[in-house]
Amino acid sequence: MPIYTLPDLDYDYGALEPHVSARIMELHHDKHHAAYVKGANTALERLGEAREKENFDNLPALERALAFHLSGHVLHSLFWKNLSPKAGGRPQGPLAAAIDRDFGGFDKFRKQMTAAAGSIMGSGWAALVWEPLGKRLLVSQIYDHQSNLAQAGTPLLVLDAWEHAYYLQYENRKADFFEAVWNVWNWQDAGRRFLAAQA
Ligand SMILES: [Fe+2]
Repeated sequence: MPIYTLPDLDYDYGALEPHVSARIMELHHDKHHAAYVKGANTALERLGEAREKENFDNLPALERALAFHLSGHVLHSLFWKNLSPKAGGRPQGPLAAAIDRDFGGFDKFRKQMTAAAGSIMGSGWAALVWEPLGKRLLVSQIYDHQSNLAQAGTPLLVLDAWEHAYYLQYENRKADFFEAVWNVWNWQDAGRRFLAAQA
């Protein structure tokens, strides 16, 4: 029995147009995200076989595959919820206040988040993260799906900077995609996650 399953989108493929095309959403969700779900289940299955045979020769590769695919599944599941048609604007309430406190204002946060996405060398994500030890927000630059993130941080809002997220529509103009996505951020979702992360 597969442990992980591909969640449905809360909206149609074309609901985020013109900012994200229907074809990108379809491929991104049905093919790319689905592949991470499958990869995570396969890695778990292989780990089970390794335990059964008491043969852990391939363990480092399996651990790496699990971290990569499972993190891809987690981040994409979050990304779909972070987006919404007729959204955008700015966060309200406690999240807005924390962004002001920790980044010196929404505009400064937005510039840092966009720069984090735009300056990734290779594939990765930009993420707004709640860091529980310092009790503060951070912008993190995630490599691939699983690296370069401080432990214990909870991602609240994530921006996919892999080429598969924009290339079909924006080609080499990735900066345009990283600007367009600000029209479809679901700040209510991020705000709920912010409260839950502190509870
Ligand atoms: Fe992606």
